[in-house]
Amino acid sequence: MHKNQLLERLNSHTAKVGIIGLGYVGLPLAVAFAEVGIEVIGVDLDPRKVEAINKGVSYIPDIPTEQVAPLAKSGKLRAANNYEALKDVDAVSICVPTPLLKTKDPDMSYVTSSLDALAPLVHPGMLIVLESTTYPGTTNELVIPKLVDGRFKVGEEVFIAFSPERIDPGNPKYGVKNTPKVIGGVTEACQEVGCAYYGQIIDQVIPVGSPTVAELVKLLENTFRAVNIGLVNELALMCDKLGVDVWEVIRAATTKPFGFMPFYPGPGLGGHCIPIDPLYLSWKMKSLNYTARFIDLASEINTSMPVYVVNKIAHALNDESKAVRGSKIAVLGVAYKKDIDDVRESPALDVIQLLEERGAVVSYHDPYVPSVRLEHGRKMESTPLTSEWLREADCVAIITNHSTFDYGWVVKTAKLVMDTRNATAGKRSGGARVVGL
Ligand SMILES: NC(=O)c1ccc[n+]([C@@H]2O[C@H](COP(=O)([O-])OP(=O)(O)OC[C@H]3O[C@@H](n4cnc5c(N)ncnc54)[C@H](O)[C@@H]3O)[C@@H](O)[C@H]2O)c1
Repeated sequence: MHKNQLLERLNSHTAKVGIIGLGYVGLPLAVAFAEVGIEVIGVDLDPRKVEAINKGVSYIPDIPTEQVAPLAKSGKLRAANNYEALKDVDAVSICVPTPLLKTKDPDMSYVTSSLDALAPLVHPGMLIVLESTTYPGTTNELVIPKLVDGRFKVGEEVFIAFSPERIDPGNPKYGVKNTPKVIGGVTEACQEVGCAYYGQIIDQVIPVGSPTVAELVKLLENTFRAVNIGLVNELALMCDKLGVDVWEVIRAATTKPFGFMPFYPGPGLGGHCIPIDPLYLSWKMKSLNYTARFIDLASEINTSMPVYVVNKIAHALNDESKAVRGSKIAVLGVAYKKDIDDVRESPALDVIQLLEERGAVVSYHDPYVPSVRLEHGRKMESTPLTSEWLREADCVAIITNHSTFDYGWVVKTAKLVMDTRNATAGKRSGGARVVGL
């Protein structure tokens, strides 16, 4: 009975949807539901985000304000900072952060507190989907006990599923609608309702046999990237010893039409996903007395890259008879990848901190990041990108290859360039000495 009523409400767009956590994942999802005419209420603990949404203003670069404004005006998209607002919703997606603790163990506190706040509001006929990336077993071991606690029959009265988020911020080709979505329901009925829910806004839903499979799908996808990036980062270290250009090797290997896909080396991993998610899997496996060796090795190589970059800068300065101490280093780009404003886990912050620890005088420019806070607490402001700034630096370190930078001009203006992204390829003649990875 509850299932059919919920399906009917979802398919007729008369269902009310709740999104918990209106960040990089939750806001695009909320907008997608509101855009097909479904009433959405978003809950976030950050009052600035709640206020912005209710005023029709976006704070996520991929979602223009022009997209949010009409939805807020029509009342299809509203935000609140209390869970009470969710008391009569039919379906809820939980999109809160899942970072790591200082010990590199999963920090499940955001998920736990959102489940605790939601639990009193769970009612018959409700669908709840966790989207936050997490360790395999979370839905069964944490979500069901916290939300249901023997009060409801899962699959008959309430419906629970896990559906990993695959959003790729800054990707102009793939967004919420055209990125297939994997869904693992606790029961077949949960699966059916979950597919109907996301089917309203996503072209292709991919049902899998259980929430644990869906949880593991996400971890495989991101572990695949972390391991392959670890492999090319190690290739870069080997090429350095061999005196070979790692980019030329990758470029030529990419001409193979089958059995190879390129990954690129860089100053280290960043973002909320690739450096973190594999450690959720290795943490879980440790509890089962199993060591996830590929994950550990990739993590070791990837996290050592900022030190490698700083050592290369030190060698390059040494060749010019300069010490790191007292040298002016201009860092270009601090976001964790190009054309976005996200600095979470960005290797640029490690590179800056390591250079400062060695006595360098560091400044940075990033058109997307007006200020950053380093791990030891110091706040830095972005320096305007001028010829003078580049010219005065003893070394310009390209850490993030934003498309807006004129790399030919950078090389012509600077004294020495450390290019960790091969951004200056084809633009190096007649300018500064360029050192690669
Ligand atoms: N950002 C990505 O590219 C991406 C991609 C795929 C998956 N994910 C996963 O999605 C999840 C969310 O990531 P994100 O990038 O959107 O994070 P985010 O930090 O951008 O957004 C999370 C939001 O949740 C809010 N929040 C925190 N605790 C809350 C609570 N108890 N109740 C209500 N709101 C709360 C925060 O204020 C914030 O606005 C994570 O598990 C992440 O691993 C992220």
